[in-house]
Amino acid sequence: MSRPFKAETFIAEHVRGIPRSGIREFFDLVQSTAGVISLGVGEPDFVTPWHIREAAIYALERGRTSYTSNLGLLKLREAISANVEKNFGITYDPKNQILVAVGVSEALDIALRATVNPGDEVIYHEPCYVSYAPSVTLTHGVPVPVACKAENGFAVTAEAIEAVITPRSKVLMLNFPTNPTGGTMTRTELLKIAEVVLRHNLLVITDEIYSELTFEGQHVSIASLPGMRERTIFLHGFSKAYAMTGFRIGYACGPVELIEAMMKVHQYSMLCASIISQEAAVEALNHGEPDTIEMREQYKVRRNFIVAALNGMDLKCHSPRGSFYAFPNIESTGLSSKEFATRLLKEEKVACVPGSAFGACGEGFLRCCFATSLDQIQIATERMANFVARVKKG
Ligand SMILES: Cc1ncc(COP(=O)(O)O)c(C=O)c1O
Repeated sequence: MSRPFKAETFIAEHVRGIPRSGIREFFDLVQSTAGVISLGVGEPDFVTPWHIREAAIYALERGRTSYTSNLGLLKLREAISANVEKNFGITYDPKNQILVAVGVSEALDIALRATVNPGDEVIYHEPCYVSYAPSVTLTHGVPVPVACKAENGFAVTAEAIEAVITPRSKVLMLNFPTNPTGGTMTRTELLKIAEVVLRHNLLVITDEIYSELTFEGQHVSIASLPGMRERTIFLHGFSKAYAMTGFRIGYACGPVELIEAMMKVHQYSMLCASIISQEAAVEALNHGEPDTIEMREQYKVRRNFIVAALNGMDLKCHSPRGSFYAFPNIESTGLSSKEFATRLLKEEKVACVPGSAFGACGEGFLRCCFATSLDQIQIATERMANFVARVKKG
């Protein structure tokens, strides 16, 4: 007699152990509450600039509906090469050192799948983007977080990285400006990290998705430092700088051998990114810079407003030098970050993400995304101030 089928017993163990994203879990709650102002999901409130949408429409009109080369359209890789050279000072050959992927999400996944053996340790700084630790686990690697502190503006130090290095350490993942803290790094700080990377023979994966949204100072990629280009996989995308989240398009640049290995994973799992999105991405790179500058200016105005408002209600908040996230400390309220976010949503209809969703050291903080109109941010912060005053009164 056949045994009853129990679907859950067929789930692979390493997948079973992965939690659902703390953001999604929280946003199921948001969906079911009417009249909410969301400072939640990290997505630009701007619609993709018209000329970029038009390029996608024109691609359809011309019947551009086929697969492309696994690496992506050559003209897109050429535009990426020119752009990365201009903005980051790093040269990559469009023929074999650039791969177009389905967002930085896929680029990160295939970078890890192409390089991590079971048991290899992958070091990353926390609080961090929700996918980092699960992506490492999915490759049977071991996630090794390094805590970043508010008092250092959420930069990561070379000493903290070196302290967790073991003989199994293989990859260091970096993301500056950081989601969720807005942390950035100076060239001097990155040089110290590069020295540790060289001494311990590590591979670096750098996620540069917020680099255009740097408000102060010059953004520097670790890949541009001496000796680093050869041992770095440079990831970047279009979601944030050009408000193109729905196009699902990003890319990886790196040494020929690693791009070739990533291409194999990409080829058998994704084949290629959508040609329509690739056509739109060419337009974004060739003519989208003024849009990015305009959006960055608006984010900066909103950042200044929200940081002042949060500090004004005694939620200590450093001014993020990049990204579109404010990350205030909410410990003075005596609530956990999850309690704070859940009550704020229920009592004041403002959605923010508990810091704990971004790793254990995010506890005590709240992520407030300011990619929302200034009007909405104004109302949201007024509601938050009422909530904080009420909680503190007891
Ligand atoms: C740090 C970071 N990396 C990658 C991604 C995913 O980007 P994409 O839309 O290109 O897949 C995000 C999205 O929020 C992010 O914050």
